Amino acid sequence: MIDTMTKWFLHHQQLAGYLEPIMQRFKPAWRAGFYRAEVACIEPINEKYLELWLAPESTWPIHKAGQHLELTVEMNGQLRTRVFTIASSPEQYRASGLVRLIIRTHELGRFTPHLTTYLASESWCNISAPQGTFLFPQRKMGATLMVAGGSGITPFLAMLSQHLGETCHPVKLIYIARAGEHLAEKELNTLAARYAHFSYFPIGRTDFEPLTHYLNDLDAPVVYCCGPQALMEQVATQSRAANLSYFDEPFGLATQINLAERTEHAVKVAHHQYAVDNQRSLLDQLEQQRVSVRRGCGMGICHQCQCVKKQGLVRDMRTGELSDAGESLIQLCVVQAVTDVEITL
Ligand code: FES
Repeated sequence: MIDTMTKWFLHHQQLAGYLEPIMQRFKPAWRAGFYRAEVACIEPINEKYLELWLAPESTWPIHKAGQHLELTVEMNGQLRTRVFTIASSPEQYRASGLVRLIIRTHELGRFTPHLTTYLASESWCNISAPQGTFLFPQRKMGATLMVAGGSGITPFLAMLSQHLGETCHPVKLIYIARAGEHLAEKELNTLAARYAHFSYFPIGRTDFEPLTHYLNDLDAPVVYCCGPQALMEQVATQSRAANLSYFDEPFGLATQINLAERTEHAVKVAHHQYAVDNQRSLLDQLEQQRVSVRRGCGMGICHQCQCVKKQGLVRDMRTGELSDAGESLIQLCVVQAVTDVEITL
């Protein structure tokens, strides 16, 4: 009721929108619907990767090894969000209160190259609840073959740390990366020295053999793969050919989006949902469904159709650029939905 009155008389959709600036005076980065996390440490690992340790607030639900979260950081007045797999185990979180993210920095990106600027030690950011189903079975009854490519090693770091002590079946990790770019080598070598049933093979990018090459000492293993799309497709095909169970974890939402095919999505506006496709502008499709939207030039010039996207991905029809998954300003006349989207008019 209070939210409804807020919406009638004022311009925020929820009372929480007014509370945020007040709450943030006492609790930095407080936002309705987000968890807060304090930066414990942020450090470069090498030229391409950095390590971020976060202390989530006490209400954050503990993750399972292999899950990911959305990290939201306020950058230059804008909230930007990216998805990262948690590279530490639930047990490590229980012991230290910290979770580790290993982040590849993309020189020309809008998020990762700026993290060290916006996230100083003891600053605050937002995280989502842990998500994802790329999990190592709790009571594993057979051998496991893990194939990681580049930063795809992160879910395996959490799984191995959590579960190697719980199984006596063979676990083999093939880790593909450029020479000198294998992450957490010391950690993986320590695990290999400690657990006789774990073997670890760091190899170069062109050295990956057909999957059968790695099966000689494993009896019908379950195959897990995380890395670039092409690697996952290759391992999936070869696993199927060898009649092996296969699981993978694609990186982030963007890798799952097929921009060429027509897809349908839901747009949530207040408490209503509208079906749209990824071919026409959101403005055209919402107008067609008699949603009260403002139209000006219809060409992305006048900004009359501008509104807040709360979540979901949209594509700018002029540049083809994909938005962040979190909150940002969009112009309805020049964007198409490529996932389910929530907006505030
Ligand atoms: S209607 Fe003018 S920018 Fe969208």
